[in-house]
Amino acid sequence: MRAVVYDEYGPPEVLRLEDVERPVPRDDEVLVKIHATTVNRSDCGWRGAHPFFIRFFTGLRRPRRRILGSELAGEVEAVGAAVTQFQVGDEVIGVNGFGAHAEFVCMRENRPLAQKPTGMTFEEAAPICDGAIIALACLRNADLRKGRSILIYGATGSIGTAAVQLAKYFEADVTAVGNTKNLELLRSLGADSVLDYTQEDFTKNGETYDVVFDSVGKHSFRRCRRSLKPGGIYIETDLGFMWHVPVLALATRWIGDRRVTLPTPTYTKKDVLFLTELVEAGKYRPVVDRTYPLEQVVEATRYVETGQKTGNVVLTVTSGSGT
Ligand SMILES: NC(=O)c1ccc[n+]([C@@H]2O[C@H](COP(=O)([O-])OP(=O)(O)OC[C@H]3O[C@@H](n4cnc5c(N)ncnc54)[C@H](OP(=O)(O)O)[C@@H]3O)[C@@H](O)[C@H]2O)c1
Repeated sequence: MRAVVYDEYGPPEVLRLEDVERPVPRDDEVLVKIHATTVNRSDCGWRGAHPFFIRFFTGLRRPRRRILGSELAGEVEAVGAAVTQFQVGDEVIGVNGFGAHAEFVCMRENRPLAQKPTGMTFEEAAPICDGAIIALACLRNADLRKGRSILIYGATGSIGTAAVQLAKYFEADVTAVGNTKNLELLRSLGADSVLDYTQEDFTKNGETYDVVFDSVGKHSFRRCRRSLKPGGIYIETDLGFMWHVPVLALATRWIGDRRVTLPTPTYTKKDVLFLTELVEAGKYRPVVDRTYPLEQVVEATRYVETGQKTGNVVLTVTSGSGT
């Protein structure tokens, strides 16, 4: 099968297409023929070994797992003897950590894999999971409900566009911060108010919120403190300069009346099922910025690394429209 592989850490150019052996499903595994996948910030982190400590998980000198790609949308091609939840021909979505930048991948049936929502193409469905599962992990700590307010900074990213929709699902009052060109998009995702960060610094306008969520790792607790109500929560997705965020998360448990959190998301089947339900109910849709063919994985990755994509970047692996 065709797959994008890499044998050394480095820039996007270390990625290349290669013919590799097609995986064979074990008894409890499903073989998925992948129609579409994504290039996300985690893929870029693994490939570039940023931050350095991730080499302890992925291989100290060179990557142990040669195929990146976490999200997938495709069709079940074969099932192991003990599989009960899926059948050959099922259209599925999933998120798997590694291995999705390829024509086929094997996943255990109890891993985060679910039936694809109907009425979506594979390209539309591939980005359902990653940004939204990270956003969910962040928002679960925020006690969002009617009457609570949240400001989402970097609301136009993969995590941010999902967070706006999920916060609305939890009935919070949502202020989304983005660039001028994306304000209409943020409104269409359900934001109650939008702020243009090129025109206005939200930390200086005197407004306060129960929750401030920096979904793109560009702000800081120090600057956002004044925008939090007493008892407010500041949510981060990045470790921050000199890894100060985990230290702050620990310290603010005991000191001060405003708390910092840095959730560590885990991909679960339960979350994937929850997200497919939201999609079917019309309450969540992943935003797709650009779609590239698998052969252009290097160009796609370079674009993701500009840090300026809107929502998600999709790779088409094999043709197929989905039902
Ligand atoms: N905790 C975890 O497990 C985990 C996992 C994956 C990723 N992450 C981190 O989460 C962060 C977000 O990931 P993502 O995939 O959602 O990011 P992304 O999609 O790459 O974010 C891109 C968006 O961020 C906006 N943006 C960039 N700089 C900005 C700024 N200074 N102010 C406001 N908006 C800005 C861009 O809008 P403009 O075009 O207006 O610049 C663009 O729409 C990353 O820092 C990533 O490292 C964390």
